Amino acid sequence: MSETDPVKLMKQEVGRAAAAQVKSGSIVGLGTGSTTAYAIQFIGDRIQSGELEDIQGIPTSFQASVLAKKHGIPLTTLDEVSRIDIAIDGADEVDPQKNLIKGGGAAHTREKVVDSLADHFIVVVDSSKLVDRLGSTFALPVEVLPMAIAPVTRALEALGGKVELRMGVKKDGPVITDQGNMVLDVTLEGIDQPAELEKTLNNIPGVLDNGLFIGVADEVLIGEVKDGQATVR
Ligand code: 5RP
Repeated sequence: MSETDPVKLMKQEVGRAAAAQVKSGSIVGLGTGSTTAYAIQFIGDRIQSGELEDIQGIPTSFQASVLAKKHGIPLTTLDEVSRIDIAIDGADEVDPQKNLIKGGGAAHTREKVVDSLADHFIVVVDSSKLVDRLGSTFALPVEVLPMAIAPVTRALEALGGKVELRMGVKKDGPVITDQGNMVLDVTLEGIDQPAELEKTLNNIPGVLDNGLFIGVADEVLIGEVKDGQATVR
C-alpha cells in the first residue's frame, strides 16, 4: 500500500512506527480510528511476512475487530488473558503531559479499559491534535445510558458545558456505541483540572465513561508533513 495524500501518508508513517514496536509473543491492544487503522494493517503485514509470531489482539471496538480480522491478526478477550503488553490508539487532543481527549469514534469507554491495562500505551496522532489545554479544540465525549440522556444533559449543563447529542452522519438518529449507548459531546472551552473533571463526570448516574484519559499514555508518536514529506517524532 502506498498513499499519495500527505495527511494519509503521515498517518500511515505514524501507524508503521507504532506497529514496528510490537514484539513477537505480545498481547496487543488495538485502538480505533483512521490512524490506528494503519498500525493494525502493518501489524497484520508483519504477521503475514512471518516477522511477528504469537500475537493476540484485543480490539477496542467492533471497527477494530473487523480490521484485525481483515489483516489476519488473531484476537482474544480480557476473559482469556491477564495482561496487555502494548496498546496502540489514536487521540483527538493531546496535552503537554500526555493527557488525552478521546472518543471521536465513540469508542472511548472500551478504549480506556484496554489502553489503561497496557504495560505500554502508544498514542498515534498528527501534530494538529497537540493542544496546550485539553478541551480547547474538541468537545469532550461522554457515553451515556439512553434512558439517562435528559438528566445527564442537565447535570453537564450545570457544570458549565454546552451539550450536544452526537448524531450519525445522515443526522437521522443518534450515534449508538458498541455497548448500545449514546454520546453527549460537551464543549467546555478549556479544562483546567482534567483529572478532577474525569472523576466528577463519571460520578453522574447514567454516565458510562468520558473521553478524558489522564496519566494513561506512555508514549506519543506525532506525525507531521513538511515539504510534502511525512515525518514521525
Ligand atoms: C475513537 C478515538 C480515536 O482514536 C480518535 O478519534 C482519533 O481518531 P483518528 O486517528 O481517526 O483521528 O478516540 O473513539
